[in-house]
Amino acid sequence: MVSMLNMEKKWVFPLVITSLICTILVVTCFNMGLVSSVHKINSIFSIFPAHISMNQRKPGYAESKIDTGPLPPPSGPALPRFAYLVSGSKGDLEKLWRTLHALYHPRNQYVVHLDLEAPAVERVTLASRIANHTVFSKVGNVYMITKANMVTYRGPTMVANTLHACAIHLNRSKNWDWFINLSASDYPLVTQDDLIDAFSDLNRNLNFIEHTSQLGWKADKRAMPLIIDPGLYMSTKSDIFWTSQRRALPTAFKLFTGSAWTVLSHSFVEFCVWGWDNLPRTLLMYYTNFLSSPEGYFQTVVCNVPEFAKTVVNHDLHYISWDTPPKQHPHILTLNDMDKMIRSNAAFARKFSQDDPVLDKIDKDLLGREKGSFTPGAWCSGEPKCLKVGDMNKIKPGPGAQRVRQLIAKLSTKAILGRDQCK
Ligand SMILES: *[C@@H]1O[C@H](CO)[C@@H](O)[C@H](O)[C@H]1NC(C)=O
Ligand SMILES: *[C@@H]1O[C@H](CO)[C@@H](O)[C@H](O)[C@H]1NC(C)=O
Ligand SMILES: *[C@@H]1O[C@H](CO)[C@@H](O)[C@H](O)[C@H]1NC(C)=O
Repeated sequence: MVSMLNMEKKWVFPLVITSLICTILVVTCFNMGLVSSVHKINSIFSIFPAHISMNQRKPGYAESKIDTGPLPPPSGPALPRFAYLVSGSKGDLEKLWRTLHALYHPRNQYVVHLDLEAPAVERVTLASRIANHTVFSKVGNVYMITKANMVTYRGPTMVANTLHACAIHLNRSKNWDWFINLSASDYPLVTQDDLIDAFSDLNRNLNFIEHTSQLGWKADKRAMPLIIDPGLYMSTKSDIFWTSQRRALPTAFKLFTGSAWTVLSHSFVEFCVWGWDNLPRTLLMYYTNFLSSPEGYFQTVVCNVPEFAKTVVNHDLHYISWDTPPKQHPHILTLNDMDKMIRSNAAFARKFSQDDPVLDKIDKDLLGREKGSFTPGAWCSGEPKCLKVGDMNKIKPGPGAQRVRQLIAKLSTKAILGRDQCK
């Protein structure tokens, strides 16, 4: 017995020493920066659309699962949610109402805004329609900015309005993945079930921001003139005006320009709105005097922060028909553009005139939407269809999902190789 105990004691000492040495080795490795390279390797892989992503959003999804019955199988990431801004101006009430219906899904959240130029009666009508709507009032995911902003076309008040909507989304829920900025003249080319499906296995940190640093004629005509937007301080609307002074191109950061339509990740929106790094704030002030700041603000912020630069996909997911070279306004889309719109594989298109026949065609062929109703999805229940919210964790993607997946696959392959990114 005694000798057995001694034997055990002899074993214990080397064991303790060995584990001590191992622990010290591991700690040293971490201190030598091996940890950060592990992170880098992970982030490289996670840029690529992956079923297993390191960067899934917080467990907040559980909340909605509880009230809609059985949990979906634990494999794969939860379905994404989108946070939309749909904004309009004078005369846009009916367009906005239609776009909102075409875009609606109970998983998402919506901020709608009719700017100060829209007559009060339009805004009151919109507010009461939302309050009175069976589904909107039940789900509570459509929010109207009732204290309307003054928004000047091409002026910084446009960016301020977009950031306002971002802030409202951040405050109303932590539980969304991408912010999408639309106007009442935009329209979806795929159903929300399609879009949710196409984004479901994407890395949640990707930002879809069309951009370039090749300013071309914009260096002289945009970056150097100084403008003032009276919308910042006047209560009645007047156009922007120019000062006689011009300014040099910046050297503290690099300018980028691109499309005013973007799909922004939750993490990037937090970075821009909460701004514990000072760059988003500095650039917002810089862009106060910049003509057409919506075409540059997010581009310049994202590309001047290395961690975010590698999350950029160089596309705005829109079909927009420009002249070559582009003029101030894009073409109004009609039935003649239907094929090109579909072949672009884009998720959205602009711009459309109110109740143009092409919108009816999109409703019928691409969205399966009946006049005055929602774009149907697997969440719809009740009679007539979509009058009640069924299981909002179910989706039924159609051919639109394949189109958007095709487009995104091509783009994110480029992004992972760092091609076409902040160049
Ligand atoms: C809701 O709609 C009814 C008629 O359908 C109308 O009488 C009522 O005033 C509306 N309520 C609000 C808050 O707009
Ligand atoms: C939104 O703002 C209110 C009031 O400041 C605050 O109490 C609440 O916690 C905020 N919600 C979120 C999700 O940040
Ligand atoms: C956001 O959407 C509006 C559409 O109303 C657009 O005009 C604006 O330029 C967009 N982009 C930004 C960065 O504000």
